[in-house]
Amino acid sequence: MNERDSEQVARMFVQNGYTLTTSESEADVILMNSCSIREQAEQKALGKMGLVSSQLQQHRPHVVYGMMGCMAQSKKEELFKEIPRLDLVIGTQKYHRVFEYVDSIVRQRQEHRMDNLQSAFSGSHVIDVAEEVDSQNYIKDHLNPGERSTAFVSIMQGCQMKCAYCIVPYTRGEERCRPIADVVDEVKMLVDAGVKEVTLLGQIVNRYGREFPLVDGKGGFVQLLEAVHEIDGLKRIRFVSPHPIGFRQDLVQAFTYLPKLCSHIHFPMQSGSDRILKLMRRPYKNEAYMELCVQMRQARPDLAITTDIIVGFPGETEEDYLETRKAVEEIQFDNAFIFRYSPRRGTPAAAMDNQIPEEVKEARNQDLLEVVNKIAVRKNAELVGTVQEVLLEGPSKTNAARLAGRTSQNKPVMVEAGCEHIGEIRPIRIDESTGFTLYGSLC
Ligand code: 5AD
Ligand code: SF4
Repeated sequence: MNERDSEQVARMFVQNGYTLTTSESEADVILMNSCSIREQAEQKALGKMGLVSSQLQQHRPHVVYGMMGCMAQSKKEELFKEIPRLDLVIGTQKYHRVFEYVDSIVRQRQEHRMDNLQSAFSGSHVIDVAEEVDSQNYIKDHLNPGERSTAFVSIMQGCQMKCAYCIVPYTRGEERCRPIADVVDEVKMLVDAGVKEVTLLGQIVNRYGREFPLVDGKGGFVQLLEAVHEIDGLKRIRFVSPHPIGFRQDLVQAFTYLPKLCSHIHFPMQSGSDRILKLMRRPYKNEAYMELCVQMRQARPDLAITTDIIVGFPGETEEDYLETRKAVEEIQFDNAFIFRYSPRRGTPAAAMDNQIPEEVKEARNQDLLEVVNKIAVRKNAELVGTVQEVLLEGPSKTNAARLAGRTSQNKPVMVEAGCEHIGEIRPIRIDESTGFTLYGSLC
């Protein structure tokens, strides 16, 4: 989601005559889009911005520095203290204003530079973290869509589930959805430019359009999937992420009659222990989660399921952890992101008793990772010798003679093929698996 939001901001700069650079030492403006979901992400962003701004201070004093996104939203003016050279703090509902703010500082500095006024280079301290009605509708433009075959499309913003550990509802505001017609127009524009696959983004996609009237018994999200599915030239649809609450049969059934819907679902489980789920304020039981996995696999037998799991939530006992481990073994996830619980300011879980020591979290993380990796490696090995439809996205980052692509199950495949095949969906024979990456050749 941050990547998508950043793209929108970058696009506004490019449209107004700025040029993107990959080199910090060449930039006149450095903007960072920050994540607050875990402490580590915040520390990384703070460290990087602090370092870059102090390194460039002497030789490039005119550079404008901005922090955007969730950390800007939650830390607000405190960030000016943490990063002395910082000029802007822009919240999650104000991405569309970043260009104006930055451009006016750039212009001011240019004028003062001509007048040789060093004082112009002291921090500007622009802050905008207010709410903005309809901010979800501003994330709609793309940077060079003609140069890629897959794109993210943001369908909604915010979340009001208030899981006890999560900072998102405080940084991204109330849930707001874009109209179906706007999303369809955006996807059509992308497809006209050459995009073959879209990933629809939302905090809880299955809550999209939950206030829309049902059509043939189908809710807003399935109506959206059907509308996007009809777009000629679009080959693949993905979405992230659904929540077990409000995951209705219409979405399970969508896997049976929407062939463009890829055979992969990222379905956060968080914990396999009902006691911990309750403490997390995730109002479902593990059995209900598992049942949905079974139903989806019935609807789409080759469905790959991946998940998010938090270990070391306050009060998690060894028995609770073992229930999570058991659930992972039972469901046989294709892959899982495992997170050590990270206390976030202002969230209920941060104030809970029985915080778990870091070494226990680390031990559970390592143990679970072993289980997850073993299953992932086995599942990848099973694909050797099969033929998979692969969308060839672009040159491999590690070997320019190969193309990198993904199967419908979202597994990465490196393919011996020339650049002329970029953007194609081709049957690929899987020749080898090195554990997490598959290698294949054109059939
Ligand atoms: N600590 C650890 N992991 C977290 N997540 C969200 N908040 C926290 C936290 N405080 C994880 C959840 C979510 C994923 C995006 O990040 O598993 O699904
Ligand atoms: Fe955070 Fe829970 Fe909302 Fe996901 S559903 S964004 S974990 S509050």
